[in-house]
Amino acid sequence: MSARTKLEVRNLQGGYGDVQVLWDISLDVAAGEIVAIIGSNGAGKSTIMRTISGLLPVKGGSFAIDGKPMTGAGPAELVRAGVAHVPEGRRLFSAMSVRDNLLMGAYLREDRDAVNADLERIYAMFPILAERRRQDAGTLSGGEQQMCSIGRGLMSRPSLLLIDELSLGLAPRVVEQLSDRLREINAGGVAILLVEQDVIAGLELANRGFIVDRGRVTLSGAARDLAGNAAVREAYMGVSAPAGPLP
Ligand SMILES: Nc1ncnc2c1ncn2[C@@H]1O[C@H](COP(=O)(O)OP(=O)(O)OP(=O)(O)O)[C@@H](O)[C@H]1O
Ligand SMILES: [Mg+2]
Repeated sequence: MSARTKLEVRNLQGGYGDVQVLWDISLDVAAGEIVAIIGSNGAGKSTIMRTISGLLPVKGGSFAIDGKPMTGAGPAELVRAGVAHVPEGRRLFSAMSVRDNLLMGAYLREDRDAVNADLERIYAMFPILAERRRQDAGTLSGGEQQMCSIGRGLMSRPSLLLIDELSLGLAPRVVEQLSDRLREINAGGVAILLVEQDVIAGLELANRGFIVDRGRVTLSGAARDLAGNAAVREAYMGVSAPAGPLP
């Protein structure tokens, strides 16, 4: 493992109670990288994200952040290690204001001045959130909720952002805006592990990708190679034409 490995997952087994969902998952994210996880509904993508963020127990194998073993760590410990989880469905507190939702992301921090400065940074990144800061999060549009959920993740000052379903239910224009913000966040030194059901958009954003099928990694590689791979195009992009450059 190189010193610049942000996340290393080795032979991870995971699931819910007695039900095993993840089988021998191995993947890695380098510092500064964007990596996409691609797979059909029920493949285990969210289960990977929940396990890496400490919400689900590790049943076998291991994972490490910055080379430090994290197997068995809880959510707070993982936040302290630099991991922020933007969950599927955004999971905002709908009866709380946008501002208070954002502050929830900083619940482990005691550096109040820096927290306030970071709040302003999020507002600069997503000006609509500044306008709506006193509004209940439940009244936001889908795109605004995703901005708020990403902002909440950033409020813990992560070095690895886990984003589960960036674009689900959002208009293409909003997805483009969010993708631009993620590129900026990434350029600022935050590695990103992304689950994206829009495979073309996900692979456009990512440097590398891992294909997950029924709880196992079946293929991995450079995002552009995966995007041109005939089997990937047929299975996940609904393209039956021979492999070639994307339009
Ligand atoms: N809370 C749970 N209890 C039991 N089984 C679960 C639970 N959540 C998910 N599963 C099962 O685990 C498997 C993987 O689910 P997971 O949510 O990780 O898939 P996914 O790849 O994220 O799918 P999607 O694209 O639909 O979000 C599925 O078979 C699902 O039924
Ligand atoms: Mg999911």
